[in-house]
Amino acid sequence: MEIREVAVVGLGTMGAGIAEVFARAGIGVIAIEADPQALRQGLGTLDASLSRAVSRGRLAAGEQAEIRARVRPAAAFSEAAAVDLAIEVVPERMEIKRQVFAELDRVCGPDAILATNTSSLPVTSVAAGTRHPGRVVGMHFFNPAPVMRLVEVVSTVLSDQAVPAAVAALARRLGKVPVEVGDRAGFVANALLLPYLNHAVELLAARYASAADIDRAATEGMGLPMGPLALLDLIGLDTSLSILEVLHAEFGLPRYCPAPLLRRLVAAGRTGRKAGRGVYSYGDGQPAGADSGPAGLAGAGAPDTVTLIGRGDEQESSFASVLASAGLSVTRNPAHPSDLVVIVAAVGQPVLPAALAAGRGDQAVGVHFPGGVKEEGLAELVRTSLTTDATMAAAHALAARLGVSVVQAPDRPGFLVAALLYPHLADAVLMAQQGYADAADIDTAMTLGCGYPRGPFELIDAIGAAEVLAGLEAMHTAYGYPGFAPPLLTEHAAAGIGFATAVRAGR
Ligand code: 3HC
Repeated sequence: MEIREVAVVGLGTMGAGIAEVFARAGIGVIAIEADPQALRQGLGTLDASLSRAVSRGRLAAGEQAEIRARVRPAAAFSEAAAVDLAIEVVPERMEIKRQVFAELDRVCGPDAILATNTSSLPVTSVAAGTRHPGRVVGMHFFNPAPVMRLVEVVSTVLSDQAVPAAVAALARRLGKVPVEVGDRAGFVANALLLPYLNHAVELLAARYASAADIDRAATEGMGLPMGPLALLDLIGLDTSLSILEVLHAEFGLPRYCPAPLLRRLVAAGRTGRKAGRGVYSYGDGQPAGADSGPAGLAGAGAPDTVTLIGRGDEQESSFASVLASAGLSVTRNPAHPSDLVVIVAAVGQPVLPAALAAGRGDQAVGVHFPGGVKEEGLAELVRTSLTTDATMAAAHALAARLGVSVVQAPDRPGFLVAALLYPHLADAVLMAQQGYADAADIDTAMTLGCGYPRGPFELIDAIGAAEVLAGLEAMHTAYGYPGFAPPLLTEHAAAGIGFATAVRAGR
């Protein structure tokens, strides 16, 4: 199955990106787009992307012209008669997909592969409506397609065995890494990513944390390339909503149920970067207000004396050294007068009991360092129901004096970073437990599809299964959500074995 020429149907952002990927690999592309304005826009996206690569010195100007010459715009399906593969990248509505596949089925030769870039619709339903369902597969790219290296290759119970294998080989030829999976809503990456993004919107709606803090928790606290709210704006809130609806219909779990705020933002036309407004507003392409600090807390002076309360762990001693090196006077005695009481917190353990025990709940704030106390690390400032605004202002001023980047979180299980991340990790464990994909494929999907520096299982191994489990159990106790206690994680925590060890052992 040699692929020399392909058709890309639909030239939106993803279609244009996919056309670029094929053309860069030396493959001729027939770019089918019936709407002349959409075609102009799509080609504009392609040209802008190639020009950016030239201006960054990643592509020679001559190559740009060659790549561009490989893309032949067309308005009619009949132009795809001789292609070896056609991929549709049209809106995520089954009736539109079916129409496109009926056309492709009619015009393409019987040996041509027909692929859908659907992010969540059943590939099987698309295939079942065609004359040769064996040649229909999912070929799912990630946004921005020229950059993200993952391609999910989705086979159905109707697929001829050779077809997914040929598409996986093609993905490798494009410089991508294929992960081959069966036909289940959201495949690997979206089924994990979307509930996490949805959860971020729920946290925002509940005023659990500010948008900037939620995003900073992901980037600075977890090392992810983008915060979940900024990523929603990139993917499109409307696209995200429709994927969540499909996931919710398939799996029924509350984590997939779209957040009401997400629905309202979509209804208001705030669909993301493409509309100039989503969770954030984009004047000149940059989000507005992403760096705004906590409201009403400016102007407080940093404390000179701090009462430090902890459990005698490493975070406490490291933080005590940081305070001392900054010239602060530190006392351990709550009865001793000081400007601020700082309680060094641990995930899964509330701050309030220690604040009450200190007898100065109004002056007490929790601090937690998700990645340990280190330079350029992130600290979570934990506000209990007794902490006053003045105390929070003093805590922020202290962080500024120490040069520590902070996010603010309520005194709830997981604070902010783990509250966002651990359920996401639990979803990954659940997926492996269900046998849909193994830990290695899930890690590949999330690193190459979403730019994670480490996949969910590598993250669990780095944090420690027991630590993640303890955090999840605290959330499970607080919220009662069954997905927060996956047995596979309990097994790993009890046995004290990492997932990488299990993968190597072939389990
Ligand atoms: N098109 C083409 N190239 C692009 C691009 C675009 N839209 N955006 C960025 N790039 C290129 C840049 O030119 C640059 O290339 P270079 O290194 O060769 O010079 C490179 O990508 C890095 O770009 P920047 O330096 O401008 O920005 P960042 O380093 O911040 O990276 C990012 C941008 C690659 C988008 C990064 O933030 C990232 O990986 N984000 C996560 C994206 C993600 O999760 N995508 C998956 C979404 S889910 C999905 O698509 C599934 C769907 O079904 C919903």
